[in-house]
Amino acid sequence: MLTIENVKEKLAKVMYPGFAKSILDFGFIKDVAVDGNKVAVYIEITSSAEEVEKELRENITKELSMLGEIDLNLAIHKPQAPKQMSNSMSGNNMTPQVKNFVMVSSGKGGVGKSTTSVNLAIALAMQGKKVGLLDADIYGPNIPRMMGLDGQEPEIIGNKIMPYKAYGVEVMSMGSLVEEGKALVWRGAMIQKAIQQLLRDILWSELDCLIIDMPPGTGDAQLTLAQSVPVAAGINVTTPQHVALDDSRRSLEMFSKLHIPIAGIVENMSGFVCPKCGEESDIFGKGTCEDLAKEYSTKVLANIPIEPNIRVGGDDGKPVVYFYPDSKTGKKYLQAAAQLWESIEKANANGEIGNSEIQPNLPAGVSACSTEGQAYKKEQDEKKAAAKEAEKSGGCCGGGHCS
Ligand SMILES: Nc1ncnc2c1ncn2[C@@H]1O[C@H](COP(=O)(O)OP(=O)(O)OP(=O)(O)O)[C@@H](O)[C@H]1O
Ligand SMILES: [Mg+2]
Repeated sequence: MLTIENVKEKLAKVMYPGFAKSILDFGFIKDVAVDGNKVAVYIEITSSAEEVEKELRENITKELSMLGEIDLNLAIHKPQAPKQMSNSMSGNNMTPQVKNFVMVSSGKGGVGKSTTSVNLAIALAMQGKKVGLLDADIYGPNIPRMMGLDGQEPEIIGNKIMPYKAYGVEVMSMGSLVEEGKALVWRGAMIQKAIQQLLRDILWSELDCLIIDMPPGTGDAQLTLAQSVPVAAGINVTTPQHVALDDSRRSLEMFSKLHIPIAGIVENMSGFVCPKCGEESDIFGKGTCEDLAKEYSTKVLANIPIEPNIRVGGDDGKPVVYFYPDSKTGKKYLQAAAQLWESIEKANANGEIGNSEIQPNLPAGVSACSTEGQAYKKEQDEKKAAAKEAEKSGGCCGGGHCS
């Protein structure tokens, strides 16, 4: 006689499309009932993509058909489909196969940028998006370790590089391409070149979104990225203590200056829940980002507590959202990813994405952030202002050919 266990055994073999993990392990199977040869299965998935449901339906039906003649009632619940993008970008895009770029930044180091980037990228992939994760932290690349890819050699095809694939996400890291410690001595023009190579020379697929983990601070890497691709969303990661918030403000200011729509703030290490007694303590404080978010007309995407699973997951290459999607923190990352996507859609719909305003217009080989570059830009700006003034007063055009 057919039992619930027989059905579950078969369902355990069905992989979630795009992942090497089954729907049972993901915790997507919510209910199974058996009555004679009637089998009812209720599944909740995180992706709204039709193809995911279709593939899953086919695979489940095929797997369960091995139990003999059954009358299957299969219900798959999925979140609402996102609206179509209007594709209203303007300006430079060095990586045109990517629809949306997300810059994950922070004012200071060690606040959890990489942890946030990894978990948001996987969460978006679990929600059916085609996602890439680029580790552009030239000084301390640690995405390979966090994605369980440490020590892997990249595959080179011609003069391009294939991204790795882990947890449903395409991944590439500066750390896989540069000898350890070398990047520490890089200056403006070299950083610019490195970021542009990462964007141009990696064989990304057609992606809905590329999450980019930046080095801490507001420097050459951030500016080069914003000038090379139209960034659809900026995420600021911070810890809740007030000194960290001061640095965060600089990072949010930078998004505004670079014309990057701010998707929100992730308040990381926000409170600590003792795994033994369950008591909550606010080591760095908690909830302080709300005011900062209001100041910049944005929102707090998530308050992520200090959690041993997150640290261990980072060190062992086992991201929490993938291994514990049903945990409190796993759900927070999934919710934050959904909100990030909403923000990307809104920015697209409102035509807020583009980088034409911040193009460098510099002589070849000069970084916009170098002293030379800054001086050149200042000179150009002064010339433009003088020409405008002269035009207003009906005098010389400023072109230097009137005597
Ligand atoms: N919420 C958290 N709970 C526990 N550990 C965390 C949490 N967030 C991050 N960590 C751990 O803190 C360390 C720093 O995090 P992470 O590397 O993500 O920060 P970062 O901002 O990218 O740092 P860097 O500026 O050096 O690149 C890592 O060991 C990570 O596993
Ligand atoms: Mg990092």
